[in-house]
Amino acid sequence: MASLKDKVVVLTGASRGIGAAAARLMAEDGPTLILCARSAEANAETRAAVEAVGATAESHGFDVSDAAAAKVFIDDVVTRHGRIDVLINNAGSGKMGSVADVPPDDYLAVQRVNVMGPYNMIYAALPAMLERDAGTIINLTSARAFIPDRFYAAYCSSKAALLSMTQCLHFDLQDTNVKIFAFSPGFTETDMVREIYANKVFRQAALTPDQGQPPERPAKVMTWLAREAPNNLAGEHVQVQFNDISRRAGLED
Ligand SMILES: NC(=O)c1ccc[n+]([C@@H]2O[C@H](COP(=O)([O-])OP(=O)(O)OC[C@H]3O[C@@H](n4cnc5c(N)ncnc54)[C@H](OP(=O)(O)O)[C@@H]3O)[C@@H](O)[C@H]2O)c1
Repeated sequence: MASLKDKVVVLTGASRGIGAAAARLMAEDGPTLILCARSAEANAETRAAVEAVGATAESHGFDVSDAAAAKVFIDDVVTRHGRIDVLINNAGSGKMGSVADVPPDDYLAVQRVNVMGPYNMIYAALPAMLERDAGTIINLTSARAFIPDRFYAAYCSSKAALLSMTQCLHFDLQDTNVKIFAFSPGFTETDMVREIYANKVFRQAALTPDQGQPPERPAKVMTWLAREAPNNLAGEHVQVQFNDISRRAGLED
């Protein structure tokens, strides 16, 4: 099995939820894990867990929606480490509500984080990846890209855009050894879904946060994807379901 040992892995949204669980799992291989959230302090718990298993960790704070900040961050990583082997665009946010209640600026803020965030990071990181002709990029999209729902316009449309962007970039990269993946973790019990279901409309929904899978489950598939970067899944929509992918990632026999 491929390993992340000595790889330079940049992970956004590392402070909690699926990102924090993935950082802990990936740490077992011994990579250099570069943990990002809006503030460096927010990654303290994840960083301590990563270092406890002997991996090297750094913690950085910046907003992925800020293109200039993303470029300063990526340039600094490439200067100090010489490369980025794996870039995981996991940071995400949502804003629930009817169009009548979600002002344009709030709608745009979701697109800035969920769409422009990954774009900013990829735009900054690609030159160094292309120069080495190596690298893996994983974008956290969502089955919500295909499942529109009441009050979900900002989130669903952002994930649909990110999925489409990822698939287009796959074609851009086809003549290179840089691989890009769209990864949908499935319904997972994290702060994000807890916030959604704090809304009384969603409390009546069929699923509640405690019916979500634990973050360790998608984290295991994400780690497998980062390790193996399977050629036949590049540019595909990789979903955590009860299927061939979850078996290959070791979730089921
Ligand atoms: N949970 C699910 O059921 C589910 C399903 C499908 C897809 N997803 C996707 O999976 C990813 C992880 O979700 P999650 O449930 O683990 O979310 P979460 O628990 O809410 O965590 C979100 C992470 O993103 C970071 N973040 C948010 N806005 C940011 C910004 N502007 N700049 C930098 N970092 C930012 C947060 O860090 P700070 O707040 O500390 O800055 C936090 O580490 C997201 O892309 C989400 O859309 C989740």
